[in-house]
Amino acid sequence: MIIRPRRLRQTKALREMVRETSLSVKDFIYPLFVKHGRKARDPIPSMPGQYQFSVDTLLDEVLEAWDLGVPAVILFGLPDRKDAVGSRSYADDGIVQQAVTAVKSRVPDLVVMTDVCLCEYTDHGHCGIIRNGRVDNDSTLEVLARQAVSHARAGADFVGPSDMMDGRVAAIRAALDAEHFQDTGILSYAVKYASGFYGPFREAADSAPQFGDRAGYQMDPANALEALKEAVLDVEEGADIIMVKPALSYLDIVRRVREECLLPVAAYNVSGEYAMVKAAQEKGWIDGERIMMEILLSIKRAGADLILTYFAKEAARVLRGD
Ligand code: PBG
Repeated sequence: MIIRPRRLRQTKALREMVRETSLSVKDFIYPLFVKHGRKARDPIPSMPGQYQFSVDTLLDEVLEAWDLGVPAVILFGLPDRKDAVGSRSYADDGIVQQAVTAVKSRVPDLVVMTDVCLCEYTDHGHCGIIRNGRVDNDSTLEVLARQAVSHARAGADFVGPSDMMDGRVAAIRAALDAEHFQDTGILSYAVKYASGFYGPFREAADSAPQFGDRAGYQMDPANALEALKEAVLDVEEGADIIMVKPALSYLDIVRRVREECLLPVAAYNVSGEYAMVKAAQEKGWIDGERIMMEILLSIKRAGADLILTYFAKEAARVLRGD
């Protein structure tokens, strides 16, 4: 007798009935870049379809995403000036702070998240304060906490620390609570690898390190147990959502973190992953839309509850059947 798994694949209706994983627009968090000025919608060359927005044009983009059913955005800021300590990152009139307030007043129900990090705001491009030629952990915590509180004050629902300093979730939680922002959540970039897949982002956010690299704080791509350690620590420190980043080369990590933690797990389908699809599609080498959906589904199947993705709007349209 032949066992016949194909029996369940015979018709579309049947295939849909036995489908194990489903992708929904409600899984998506849409990353957006915001800069000073007016009427800006500057294309990011290595990320076709992505732009640097000013606050006014950002509102149009956010509304469009919201109308497509995308429930959340995460904002990255391009400051008007940089300095050694990233002081524009925590200014009340900083770009992210302005954007958050504008977006929340226009679309109050949209979940607005912010990236909390220094690399976009420091002249040296590192994610922390430099002391004796090294990124100094503990003095960086104070600046990150200040930045997180300023985002919360502007109206952010979640702050997302992406710096990989030790103890930053606890430091940010304590600072938020002390300022009575106990309802502001923390999306922790708990498991963030030192990855070549961030290349296009660093162009988009003008955040490449001016000396050295980020291997002294981001994780070694060879390590998996360390990922679990980082995830567990951030749960203990008070994170609300745990993120793994990048997604595609780390689907095994997404699965292991999902099995280890009781919190929602997010995966970041990063800039390089997006750019590769767009580039191959432009060359006519792949069916970009089909691969986009297959990639997003695979991230979900690996165990991610949420996906940060530049494909959010495009995938929402496909899911809607446009
Ligand atoms: C900031 C930050 C980075 C990304 C998100 N937050 C870049 C980096 O760590 O160098 C990358 C996102 C992407 O590539 O899409 N620390």
